[in-house]
Amino acid sequence: MTRFVLLFALQLACLISVPLHAGEEQPAPVTAILGAMEVEISILTKALTEPAEQSVQQLKFTRGMLGGRRVVIARTGVGKVNAAIVATLLLEHFKPSEVLFTGIAGSLNPNMHPGDIVIAEKTAQHDFGDFTAQGLQSKGTRSPVTWKRNPLFFEADKRLLALAHVSAGRLKLQALPTSEGERTPKILRGVVVTGDVFVADGGKKGELHKTFSADAVEMEGAAVAQVCYQQNVPCLVIRCMSDVADANALKDARSFGPAAAENSARLIQDLVAQLGDEAGKKP
Ligand code: ADE
Repeated sequence: MTRFVLLFALQLACLISVPLHAGEEQPAPVTAILGAMEVEISILTKALTEPAEQSVQQLKFTRGMLGGRRVVIARTGVGKVNAAIVATLLLEHFKPSEVLFTGIAGSLNPNMHPGDIVIAEKTAQHDFGDFTAQGLQSKGTRSPVTWKRNPLFFEADKRLLALAHVSAGRLKLQALPTSEGERTPKILRGVVVTGDVFVADGGKKGELHKTFSADAVEMEGAAVAQVCYQQNVPCLVIRCMSDVADANALKDARSFGPAAAENSARLIQDLVAQLGDEAGKKP
């Protein structure tokens, strides 16, 4: 009896590990899209064709087609820990060829207003380091596998950055009725910092802008970038400003959040369509 069980297990293992041979169909690559809150991903999940939900550890992942590209979309929840949990499960279960993060942020750059988009050239965790008498001395995290120090700034994938640049050049974004009047949003490449706090204070805003030369602050991007960096998966974070991280930030994020989330999602959708076109052109 035990021999039969062993034989069966062996056959099963062989079946599972059969390598693909020349001429056999490779599964089409899948692009992962993450956002912290429902409002940040719902435009994209609603745009999916052939949607199919799958849950992993009770977290919902929606697979489907977007602009000719296979995608998987998930909500991370707010904060670095939640973002890292979902990113890890995502990489483990769906093996995406790249990860895109979409959502809202607080502007740290005096020239950036609600509705404007930052394509993150690099992301850093602004609340990791040594707290000394001189305040927080930021430094990179360490990989729990190699114990090597990670960079303080995680660089975005160059190819994804170039695609985002093309999308930025051709995208029409909705004008937002801001305190500066109704203005058509700008898109720029910049630095995004991440921490486990919602910044609604002019002093903290100035400090982050100065210390990191940062353009925007949010609560998940660099955590996802760290997971991707450690697992060697290309990653890009795109954020649209919902507020300017000052005393009115909570109120502004509530009023401008949905429109800002939509702007960011539109850029992601255009970028994904380019990935779909690229895949379609491959022999
Ligand atoms: N997300 C949107 N606005 C933010 C802010 N001011 N601070 C942190 N995360 C944000």
